[in-house]
Amino acid sequence: MGSSSTTFLLFLLSLTTLTLSQLKDVYFVHNCSDTSGNYTANSPYETNLNTIISRFATLTDFNYGFSNLSAGESPDKVYSIALCRGDMNQADCNTCLNYTATELKQFCPGNKAATAWSQFCLVRYANRDLYGQLENDPRTCVFNPMNASNRDQFNQTLNELVNELSAEAAAGGPLRKYAAGNAMVIGSSQTVYATMQCTPDMDQQNCFTCLNFAIKEYQSCCSTRLGCRVLRPNCVLRFETNQFYNQIAAPLPSPPPSPTTSPSPTASDTNGNYTPNSAYQTNLNTIISQFPTLTDFNYSFFNLSAGESPDKVYSSALCRGDLTQDRCYSCLNYTATELERLCPWNKAAIAWSELCLVRYANRDMYGLLEDLPPRNCAFNEQNASNPAQFNQALNDLLNELSAKAAAGGPLRKYAAGYAPAGNLERVYATVQCTPDMTQENCTTCLDFAMRELRLCCLGRMGCRVLRPTCVLRFESNLFYNEIAVPLPSPPPSPTTSPTPKGKTSILSL
Ligand SMILES: *[C@@H]1O[C@H](CO)[C@@H](O)[C@H](O)[C@H]1NC(C)=O
Ligand SMILES: *[C@@H]1O[C@H](CO)[C@@H](O)[C@H](O)[C@H]1NC(C)=O
Ligand SMILES: *[C@@H]1O[C@H](CO)[C@@H](O)[C@H](O)[C@H]1NC(C)=O
Ligand SMILES: *[C@@H]1O[C@H](CO)[C@@H](O)[C@H](O)[C@H]1NC(C)=O
Ligand SMILES: *[C@@H]1O[C@H](CO)[C@@H](O)[C@H](O)[C@H]1NC(C)=O
Ligand SMILES: *[C@@H]1O[C@H](CO)[C@@H](O)[C@H](O)[C@H]1NC(C)=O
Ligand SMILES: *[C@@H]1O[C@H](CO)[C@@H](O)[C@H](O)[C@H]1NC(C)=O
Ligand SMILES: *[C@@H]1O[C@H](CO)[C@@H](O)[C@H](O)[C@H]1NC(C)=O
Ligand SMILES: *[C@@H]1O[C@H](CO)[C@@H](O)[C@H](O)[C@H]1NC(C)=O
Ligand SMILES: *[C@@H]1O[C@H](CO)[C@@H](O)[C@H](O)[C@H]1NC(C)=O
Ligand SMILES: *[C@@H]1O[C@H](CO)[C@@H](O)[C@H](O)[C@H]1NC(C)=O
Repeated sequence: MGSSSTTFLLFLLSLTTLTLSQLKDVYFVHNCSDTSGNYTANSPYETNLNTIISRFATLTDFNYGFSNLSAGESPDKVYSIALCRGDMNQADCNTCLNYTATELKQFCPGNKAATAWSQFCLVRYANRDLYGQLENDPRTCVFNPMNASNRDQFNQTLNELVNELSAEAAAGGPLRKYAAGNAMVIGSSQTVYATMQCTPDMDQQNCFTCLNFAIKEYQSCCSTRLGCRVLRPNCVLRFETNQFYNQIAAPLPSPPPSPTTSPSPTASDTNGNYTPNSAYQTNLNTIISQFPTLTDFNYSFFNLSAGESPDKVYSSALCRGDLTQDRCYSCLNYTATELERLCPWNKAAIAWSELCLVRYANRDMYGLLEDLPPRNCAFNEQNASNPAQFNQALNDLLNELSAKAAAGGPLRKYAAGYAPAGNLERVYATVQCTPDMTQENCTTCLDFAMRELRLCCLGRMGCRVLRPTCVLRFESNLFYNEIAVPLPSPPPSPTTSPTPKGKTSILSL
């Protein structure tokens, strides 16, 4: 179907109570299916359809704005899917569904299948099960005819916003897949507001696919317009230059918090193999045996090597910035030993355990920002109860911590902190680069890590993005020591050794 460029007016409305006059608006868009057959007046199909429509006005099970109803028996069984925008409460949702379904039936007399989108909800019905089916039609794009004055900046800002929101909505869990947010148009004081939502019968992958189609459609139909809705059977995208949604959505139930599981050391293959009892193996063992006996704490970073070319082994190792010397050495010894065991004969390998990172290779890695694999993302299966707020808080926190870590100087590039994340929750995070990274390369590494985080674990209650020269982690519980081993004060004191012995109370390996 072509994009019907229905225009619509912009008006502000109070969302606290929806009256029919507010609903009976220019936002109603429908499509009657010509290919699914017709029913006749007073047939069992019509009775079943009326049963469903009459239930919409009185739904008592809110189900976060989603319903999957059916009525009757085959061949007259009617199936339906309905979805309210993620910020609707139950009363407004019921009103919208009743209105939209009633109108839809009137606009499509006799059609067994039809779809309607109104401002606050989407209703579909058909003579087949629609649940979980990702579909391409019907679809449409409706927009405000006015264009932004600064098209390129507007388009660019919007592209970034919808990319972020689509990942967030897709990660939203089985109850609700909705994200709303705004961004300031680059170089202006204008703000653009957007919502993206999938019916929650879509899994993360299908939701992401649907929203990506929607993004492509908006780019071709309305990327410079001052307002637009891309309407699809399984997802909806909308943006405006006024705040058209409620900032606070009905909270989702909190999942029981669960501890994040540690990934076991992971290995990567890059530079060929060594043979048993070769000079390379001897040199590697020399390095590994140094870990438990290191005497120089060096603020948890080690740049070691052993042997001579062509059998020289290079290694770099990093402990989380809050570890004491004892904990750091024991983590490095454990991780390096496991790594060698899990990657027998690999000349190059890398492992991240909960508290430290160990790499070795047959080349000098010092100071190199590596953008190639290996990298890894490990997350807690639990989803945040209020993804929108959680993600906003997380995003702000990570930006702040990254800037701080990157500016951390040549001894340690580490930052930890937390922020309130709504529903009395907090998000706690640590970010760290190996200190051989310059401030600029540390920033680049953490930017990559944040991009990966958006793809792999937005909406989760905990996650670690693991890269060769930086690591980022967040959780909904305090997992780090709030006091890190102090760095020396700028004018170096001549005698004190920076190796405090105090016991810490962090998680064990
Ligand atoms: C359904 O009704 C429409 C309009 O009356 C008609 O054009 C169409 O051919 C009918 N479809 C079927 C399958 O009977
Ligand atoms: C959705 O509705 C269909 C049709 O009644 C039913 O077969 C299916 O089990 C429902 N799915 C869920 C998850 O409720
Ligand atoms: C449902 O919508 C119809 C049509 O707009 C209206 O006449 C009816 O009063 C509504 N029912 C309820 C319970 O609100
Ligand atoms: C309804 O959707 C179908 C399938 O996408 C499309 O072929 C048809 O043109 C649409 N009808 C209207 C009136 O837009
Ligand atoms: C907005 O831009 C489009 C595409 O450049 C153009 O066709 C349209 O006429 C513009 N609308 C207005 C109201 O200027
Ligand atoms: C908006 O940006 C997208 C993605 O960069 C691009 O494909 C599209 O052509 C742009 N639209 C306009 C009107 O510049
Ligand atoms: C969290 O959300 C993802 C993506 O929607 C889903 O696959 C996963 O099952 C959810 N986890 C839990 C514990 O609900
Ligand atoms: C200690 O850290 C400094 C700064 O990061 C680094 O240059 C040096 O090689 C490290 N020393 C050891 C033994 O790893
Ligand atoms: C890091 O280790 C490599 C290999 O031994 C060495 O060439 C380099 O000088 C070291 N860099 C620093 C700053 O210690
Ligand atoms: C180093 O780790 C290995 C394997 O976990 C263990 O057997 C050994 O005792 C550790 N060495 C020290 C000194 O802790
Ligand atoms: C940043 O990393 C790149 C790639 O490893 C390296 O070539 C460059 O020298 C680094 N930049 C600085 C300022 O160290």
